Amino acid sequence: MNKKIALFSSGSGSNAENIIRYFSNKTGVEFPLILSNKSEAYVHERARNLGIPSFTFTREEFNNGTNIISLLDDYKIDYVVLAGFLLKISTPILQTFPNKIINIHPALLPKFGGKGMYGHHVHQAVVDAKETTSGITIHYVNENYDEGNVIFQAVCPVLPSDSPEMVAEKVHALEYEHFPKTIEKLWF
Ligand code: GRF
Repeated sequence: MNKKIALFSSGSGSNAENIIRYFSNKTGVEFPLILSNKSEAYVHERARNLGIPSFTFTREEFNNGTNIISLLDDYKIDYVVLAGFLLKISTPILQTFPNKIINIHPALLPKFGGKGMYGHHVHQAVVDAKETTSGITIHYVNENYDEGNVIFQAVCPVLPSDSPEMVAEKVHALEYEHFPKTIEKLWF
């Protein structure tokens, strides 16, 4: 039986697309749907191009979880992957998928994590702190932002001359290389 993974994304969705493409010629896994909290997110366009249904949910639907859980149930979802998803996962969804939700964070947790630490803010903070390295952290999701057990980390150098955009580019390269492989290793 194929394992089914739902992807959650709040923005561009390049990681979501990269993961789907990585698994496209492999057996045993399917990506039946993409969920987002933003109707205007570019991830919906990517989903259309990939021929995968995508849905937007409201904040209220997200918090009480009922509609989302029943949608995930309709699609027989086994695992959830957060790929650039900005909301804290609500308790009902967490309880429905214990240890089956993972997230990617664009820095080396526990540094530069927590509320407000997303996207550009993370890379700006890394540069401001004069860090010599940054990277990615793939971790299980629990009730606190960025605090679940770490599954995988990869490091890139940060040079004194690097702008936040340059750090973001290096981090994205790590994400594209390692996120799909980490999912594969973890669940397949
Ligand atoms: C990634 O850097 C991810 O780690 C972060 O948000 C970014 C999402 O990019 N949380 P995309 O939407 O996958 O293009």
